[in-house]
Amino acid sequence: MDIRRATETDFIAMWPIFHAVVASGTSYVFAPDTNRQAAFEYWFGAGSHTYVAQEAGRIVGMYKLMANHRDLGSHVANASFMVSPEHSGHGAGKAMGLHCLSEARRAGFAAMQFNFVVSTNDAAVALWKKLGFAVVGTLPKAFAHQQLGLVDVYIMYRFLDDIET
Ligand SMILES: CC(C)(COP(=O)(O)OP(=O)(O)OC[C@H]1O[C@@H](n2cnc3c(N)ncnc32)[C@H](O)[C@@H]1OP(=O)(O)O)[C@@H](O)C(=O)NCCC(=O)NCCS
Repeated sequence: MDIRRATETDFIAMWPIFHAVVASGTSYVFAPDTNRQAAFEYWFGAGSHTYVAQEAGRIVGMYKLMANHRDLGSHVANASFMVSPEHSGHGAGKAMGLHCLSEARRAGFAAMQFNFVVSTNDAAVALWKKLGFAVVGTLPKAFAHQQLGLVDVYIMYRFLDDIET
């Protein structure tokens, strides 16, 4: 698995992954019909450091790393991950998660926070717990799951002092 900084030309491969992930309406707040321009702005907007994971020369997932808040909250990182549904369950999420923790530590962040982990997203919750995150808060019925209705959302957090760069 090769993980590298994304360039804007990578968006050609990133867009179908984004579209497939949000179409299910099960893990992200984006409307299932979110358009290409909005997706581009999400991945390449100001302050984002975006990475892609490649396998056999093909982009199979992406993540972005940024500060969770400005100024006095900027020592806490935030990140978002998407793996192509065709490639899920083959280690790309875990590889990107580990890479992201290391990049965040290298960039000087003290902690990482995920603001919106859908509680029914078993793969994500299991992966983030495996990578050392704890559920520090629950937002009751904060996500309109497209199959299950209103479900809880977790805020997940970990410090980064044990992460090697
Ligand atoms: C969540 C996501 C990033 C995980 O990536 P992935 O490549 O599918 O996951 P991996 O193959 O790296 O699996 C990592 C771990 O998660 C766990 N896991 C994966 N799929 C799982 C599932 N369906 N149920 C429970 N645990 C699961 C496994 O324990 C695995 O650990 P192991 O390899 O040590 O056994 C990916 O599925 C995805 O992009 N989903 C849609 C978007 C999303 O939910 N993003 C995160 C929002 S918080």
